[in-house]
Amino acid sequence: MARTIAVTGKGGTGKTAIAALIIRHLKQHAAGPILALDADPDANLATVLGIRVEKTIGDLREETLAEVKNLPAGMSKSAYIEAGLHQIVVETEKVDLLAMGRSEGPGCYCYVNNLLRDFSEKLHTAYQWVVMDNEAGMEHLSRRTASRIDSLIVVVNDSPLALDCARRIDQLVTDLKNPVGKRYLVVNMAPEERVAAVRARAADLTLEFLGHVPRDPALEEKVFNGESLFGLDESPAVRRIGEMMARMGE
Ligand SMILES: Nc1ncnc2c1ncn2[C@@H]1O[C@H](COP(=O)(O)OP(=O)(O)O)[C@@H](O)[C@H]1O
Ligand SMILES: [Mg+2]
Repeated sequence: MARTIAVTGKGGTGKTAIAALIIRHLKQHAAGPILALDADPDANLATVLGIRVEKTIGDLREETLAEVKNLPAGMSKSAYIEAGLHQIVVETEKVDLLAMGRSEGPGCYCYVNNLLRDFSEKLHTAYQWVVMDNEAGMEHLSRRTASRIDSLIVVVNDSPLALDCARRIDQLVTDLKNPVGKRYLVVNMAPEERVAAVRARAADLTLEFLGHVPRDPALEEKVFNGESLFGLDESPAVRRIGEMMARMGE
């Protein structure tokens, strides 16, 4: 069964960068294939990993609804979705990527969504790791379109708004019925001298402090140039992610 690491937090705190660095770490150090799950409609994870996405689950969902009356004879809706899902997984060396895309429009999607969830869960079992970059709203979590999460990482920077968002996520996860294994807090891009204060402000949350990732000029440069973070060499952010993964027991 795959181990699932989900990254969430307020927009701009560095969720996508942290998810990409975790995937980079696993690609280098862990055995087994990794599924990168881009659950943000902007599909930024694919971009920072340098992977091209042609089609998303959102596209497949719309297509299924549009095509449902024209399916080839003998092909069920279910078979159509399962085949479609395998088609949209982008395969690269050791890391495959699946983009969720937009959430649904006004149609009736329950049936399609249920099938998608079942097939996604089946797909996950083919991997050792699933790393999920979520949008801030945690929509997939709250609507239970996400499967079980082993480690949930909530990213904050030194902004009080990021902490407010972390607090909402903490509450949401506490209220949810679907199990989340461990919950962690990562402080990203905050100056060293503020980390203790940020941690103190988050002390009432159920999140365990996992680590601090400093602002990393080498990372910024890669993103600025549109280059894949797979190409990032030893740098402060890379080192900190390595330490955090060790702490998580990965
Ligand atoms: N540790 C870091 N050092 C330098 N730049 C960072 C770091 N973390 C994130 N960034 C940059 O900050 C911006 C926002 O990060 P991003 O991962 O896109 O946030 P989110 O996914 O939470 O919206 C991006 O330009 C990203 O490259
Ligand atoms: Mg993002």
